[in-house]
Amino acid sequence: MTSTLAVRDTSVPLSRNKNLRKWVEKMAALTKPSSIYWVDGSQAENDRLCAEMVASGTFIKLNQELWPGCYYARSDANDVARVEDRTFICSLSKDGAGPTNNWFPPFEMRKKLKGLFDGCMRGRTMYVLPFSMGPVGSPMSQIGVQLTDSPYVVVNMRIMARIGLPVFAEIDKDVKRVVPCMHTVGAPLNPGEQDVPWPCNKEKYIVHFPETREIWSYGSGYGGNALLGKKCFALRIASNIARDEGWLAEHMLILGVENPEGEKTYVAAAFPSACGKTNFAMLVPPDSFEGWKVWTVGDDIAWIKPDETGHLRAINPEAGFFGVAPGTSEQTNPNAMATLARNTIFTNVALTPEGGVWWEGMTSEPPAECIDWQGKPWTPASGTKAAHPNSRFTAPASQCPTIDPEWESPNGVPIRAIIFGGRRATTMPLVYQAFNWSAGVYTGATMGSETTAAAAGAVGKVRRDPMAMLPFCGYHMGDYFRHWLKVQRSLEETPRIFHVNWFRKDANGDFMWPGFRDNMRVLRWIVDRAKGRAVGKETPIGWMPHYEDIDWQGLDFSQEQFEALQAFDRMAWRSEVISHEELFIDLHDHLPPEIVYERELLICRL
Ligand code: OXD
Ligand code: MN
Repeated sequence: MTSTLAVRDTSVPLSRNKNLRKWVEKMAALTKPSSIYWVDGSQAENDRLCAEMVASGTFIKLNQELWPGCYYARSDANDVARVEDRTFICSLSKDGAGPTNNWFPPFEMRKKLKGLFDGCMRGRTMYVLPFSMGPVGSPMSQIGVQLTDSPYVVVNMRIMARIGLPVFAEIDKDVKRVVPCMHTVGAPLNPGEQDVPWPCNKEKYIVHFPETREIWSYGSGYGGNALLGKKCFALRIASNIARDEGWLAEHMLILGVENPEGEKTYVAAAFPSACGKTNFAMLVPPDSFEGWKVWTVGDDIAWIKPDETGHLRAINPEAGFFGVAPGTSEQTNPNAMATLARNTIFTNVALTPEGGVWWEGMTSEPPAECIDWQGKPWTPASGTKAAHPNSRFTAPASQCPTIDPEWESPNGVPIRAIIFGGRRATTMPLVYQAFNWSAGVYTGATMGSETTAAAAGAVGKVRRDPMAMLPFCGYHMGDYFRHWLKVQRSLEETPRIFHVNWFRKDANGDFMWPGFRDNMRVLRWIVDRAKGRAVGKETPIGWMPHYEDIDWQGLDFSQEQFEALQAFDRMAWRSEVISHEELFIDLHDHLPPEIVYERELLICRL
């Protein structure tokens, strides 16, 4: 039976906005696509794009009985992760970007990009993809339009952000500035040329112009390089907007802790990449915590603003999770497993013979055989990883069993505590509370993780990653600390700031803390403390719980073990404070005096 519904002419603009239409025409004249497609965001459109990608070999449709609504993609082996060394902040002055960002003169970068983008979409469709970071119409949301030649990006962005007609309607109201986002995989097709499943270019540029709020991304189709709403917009560009407007765009998860009385306390937490943020955001309390529940608002990014009453409120600007697959299992994160069970896009994991997916750590027994992320036959004897270590799932947040009922509240949720954390084998106790806001900013500014074998540099050396924003702060890091300090002035009540470390090791190199569900014990102390209910003791670095201040029900953890885990080692802290100086020297001419004073105070207390 043929459909009687008229098929939309997808080249007809879906927005009346003259500036948008002019820009699209101008960019099409530059990139020379074979067609222009205005994205409406509908399910039918999504199904069509997915079917086209199955036909072109970009997607494999998974076994729909096992994985309903799920698709599988393998990227090019040269396009598997964010490319920090190819990421640029092209502010007018080099000083504006600061020493922690790559900078290039904007005038020259524009010339370079113009050359690269000239004809870059030949033989491809240019999609006009409107997206809202944050619920459509929320006063805390921001709008962007991404022009992209990647249908893979369109269907991923449909999960990660709100896209399509409601966003065009918002743009047509002409009340919000629209951030223009140019994206190409950088692989034009000659007439008759056969496409590859994952087009990309060896040369990559991820470029931000903070003053004009523009993003230009060339050569990659993967993750944060290509889903421009995420790291490029919601962190690098948004951190600039936030500085100018008096709020915070942070690399933080947001969760709500509900106690047995039904009282909910929201917390935002920053951890460097690969420290288990998604697991913490979806934490399942231990069985002994009857009546306690953790609700998920977001797993990666938080936009935090002072409200009219001087309290911080936060939204998760994203609508999905772009999570690292390896290590995710029913044991480590059952809520993530439930979330990704349907309507999910898997990239660079392994494909099983029955049309399912697998990754290291998903099950204790690996499959007897599968196809690895590079498309080669794999068995447990292969001696290689079946899934790429940075393989991902793109899954709708709405499918998370613990998604907070308030997660799309246009005014966000009230934030009562902020947690900073890192991966530290020594020195850092399980938990402590900073004495006040500026001491807390110092704690965040000096946080870091030990480098692992996977990262460049000496193993075990602490890589400072201030507020987990090192690769994501779109301006000078010293000015960023100043901005954090300044935010307090618009607050009637400041959230309490904490530092946690799940990764301290003993003399034998064994982890001292079980982690995962037991992190709830720490979280409970944190929320009770933030509400002014829990007891703590003063130490040179901050407030710490006594052994009896933690709920130990259901866990055999002795006072001796706890004391070793919380131990404050004066000599280790002496070296720690000396090493803070390394980062501060680089930032010195923008470093706010408060940071210097906080360091002096800490030295005095030591
Ligand atoms: C991420 C990251 O992918 O922080 O979220 O690298
Ligand atoms: Mn992240």
